[in-house]
Amino acid sequence: MSLTTTAQARTRWVLGHALPTVAISRQARRGDLQGMAIKHSSTSQDLPLDLFAQIRAAGTFYDGRFSSVTARHAVVRETLTSPDVQAGLGIDGSGPVARLARWAGSSSPLGPLAPPSLLATEPPDHTRMRRLVTRVFTVRAVERLRTRTEEVAHELLDDLSRTARTTPVDLVDAYAALLPVTVICEILGVPLEERDVVRRFGTLAAPSLDMGLPSARFREVEDALREFDGWLQRHVDRVRRRPGDDLLSQLVAVRDDDGGALSDAELISTSGLVLAAGFETTVNLIGNGVSLLAQHPEQRAALVAGDAAWTTAVDEVLRFDPPVLLTGRTVTRDTEVAGHPLRRGRIVTTLLAAANRDPEVFTAPDAFDVRRDNAGDHLSFSGGRHYCLGAALARMEGVVALQVLHERFPDLAVIPGGRRRTTRILRGWETLPVTLG
Ligand code: HEM
Repeated sequence: MSLTTTAQARTRWVLGHALPTVAISRQARRGDLQGMAIKHSSTSQDLPLDLFAQIRAAGTFYDGRFSSVTARHAVVRETLTSPDVQAGLGIDGSGPVARLARWAGSSSPLGPLAPPSLLATEPPDHTRMRRLVTRVFTVRAVERLRTRTEEVAHELLDDLSRTARTTPVDLVDAYAALLPVTVICEILGVPLEERDVVRRFGTLAAPSLDMGLPSARFREVEDALREFDGWLQRHVDRVRRRPGDDLLSQLVAVRDDDGGALSDAELISTSGLVLAAGFETTVNLIGNGVSLLAQHPEQRAALVAGDAAWTTAVDEVLRFDPPVLLTGRTVTRDTEVAGHPLRRGRIVTTLLAAANRDPEVFTAPDAFDVRRDNAGDHLSFSGGRHYCLGAALARMEGVVALQVLHERFPDLAVIPGGRRRTTRILRGWETLPVTLG
């Protein structure tokens, strides 16, 4: 690394992590609800339900010092569909801070929050890319993966059942993480022997969504993202030379009606996002599901007996303990959302986890109920233009993973000692010791 790139990386950390952390801590001490919610997510294992309720009670939006926050279901939805509230938390303008941020950003690795990632682009580029990607990621393509996903689940459990009947095993490491990474790697044509590499990149890069990383962690994350970019470039080149029948080979070849294709950078960014989003979130869904069902054994028994539907149960897990806590946007021109004025440049935080507990939409929202008739109305997959592209795949994997596991091992017991992940935006279990029984 040259002196310039080192200085740029240092500046990125100061602007993106050090300064916001100091500012948010100060606001939290002064009773700013948004500051408190962000502080809370970094220190506690439980969702800050009281804070969610206070933010909801404050009105359509709670106007904090740094952003306008909403905890209301209808407002989250409206925000995410507004054309004036767009992806990215960019520092807009021509002032010295904006210029410094642009200079510092010029050497940052491609990541899930940097263009041309779908998550960071907006129409018309987003519409064009998303249309191409959805040509490949169809519901039918996902359904074709169900049988293979079931096979993977059984293979993993065959291995586990040899050791973990009575000896505790970490279910996250041996099952919840392996199932989605295996499936997504097959989708993207990643050779078997390189899956551990992909998993390592994903785990190292997961905190890239978070703010307030300590400097050493930030460097580790950026190094992992940079290595991941290099690996992806080699993988895409390999697939171009020898296409298979996987979805990445189709993505390389896909054309829109005018013959347009994804550029190289778009292809790398999209496959990186699909790979990372494809397992860093689903692992949380499976872990959170196992933990919640263990806390509600009567509901688990009803599912195993066929008296309740696994599809609803998976949506209820997503509603109750969402793998992605919140998402953010920037207002790109003076506008109103749900009658609330928002100025250009304002950051908006939509608390997906809080919207899922809105009593206007969900009866007894703090009760976990696998028979809830509107469980699927949760916003855990976001909404509007950026609605999760992998929602059908994630739901299918969640159903297969939880159903196969509990039908084979109805006496599975979660034992004390589990640890939550330390990521702030992604919510899940780092380790979840169980015995299969
Ligand atoms: C339980 C699992 C999952 C959850 C909770 C989840 C959640 C989300 C959320 C909240 C967003 C939107 C973020 C925003 O609005 O800023 C998103 C977008 C996205 N997700 Fe997922 N996701 C999951 C699984 C997957 C899987 C399996 C894939 C693999 C295909 C995937 C691929 C994507 C992509 C490509 C986007 C960007 C879409 C766009 O910006 O147009 N996700 N996901």
